[in-house]
Amino acid sequence: MSHHIVAAENLCYSYPDGTQALQGVSFHISHGESVALIGANGAGKSTLLLHLNGYLTPREGRVRIGDFPLTRSTRDAVRRSVGMVFQNPDDQLFMPTVREDVAFGPLNLGLPSAEVEERVCEALRKVDARHLIDRPPYRLSTGEKRRVSIAAVLAMSPDILVLDEPTTGLDPRSRRQLIELLLSFTHTKIVATHDLDLVMDVCERSLVIHEGRILADGKTEEIFSDEALLARSHLEKPLKLQGCPVCGGTSSGKQKIG
Ligand SMILES: Nc1ncnc2c1ncn2[C@@H]1O[C@H](COP(=O)(O)OP(=O)(O)OP(=O)(O)O)[C@@H](O)[C@H]1O
Ligand SMILES: [Mg+2]
Repeated sequence: MSHHIVAAENLCYSYPDGTQALQGVSFHISHGESVALIGANGAGKSTLLLHLNGYLTPREGRVRIGDFPLTRSTRDAVRRSVGMVFQNPDDQLFMPTVREDVAFGPLNLGLPSAEVEERVCEALRKVDARHLIDRPPYRLSTGEKRRVSIAAVLAMSPDILVLDEPTTGLDPRSRRQLIELLLSFTHTKIVATHDLDLVMDVCERSLVIHEGRILADGKTEEIFSDEALLARSHLEKPLKLQGCPVCGGTSSGKQKIG
């Protein structure tokens, strides 16, 4: 794929019980962009991400990934290109051992077993989970499962990385390592998260979603300085931008005077 573009045009989706989760979502993400998808609980973030590799099919509208409009016939090719880390690691890990789970994707790509083993070890090393390789995934802690599910996607060498709440359950050191990993991934990435400080560190652009609609699409710093928009979309400023209750300063070094 030459350009790792992700585009959505007027996506509408209702769950079988009638809940309208997406109501006309459109955006265009260019090759190499790092984009956050932010919004309150139930805003539609996971539903939107699940459209990007065909886990859900829109009632109306379309998705385009690189050169492919996402259809039933291009879905397998798209899934090789879009690596998706699910919100719930239990949706992703289903093999008897961590090694088999992380090897599952590369084996499906038809890679030789020596290369698969190399990819498994490298991906687990990147998320500091090499020591878990022989463990059954269902016995891991929440944060360990999260790291293994990220490794399972990295092992596929995706062109586009899509992560749904990747820092949930991670301890501060693992979170910092993940941020560094994301910064080193130079291809297109889309991150749905409530970790707005991660957004500040990793994503130059943010999409704000509220009740299934995109309320704003722009530079992260501009979005976080728009208090009316944050209030309307039930978001709060990242901690970094909130004033210190004692001195009034922020961790960006600005001080309230007077
Ligand atoms: N399987 C389902 N059946 C019916 N409604 C659903 C289903 N999954 C999600 N929804 C509803 O669709 C809407 C969007 O949910 P979604 O999971 O996309 O939100 P989200 O932004 O990812 O929230 P969170 O921050 O809690 O992860 C919500 O109203 C939710 O209740
Ligand atoms: Mg979600």
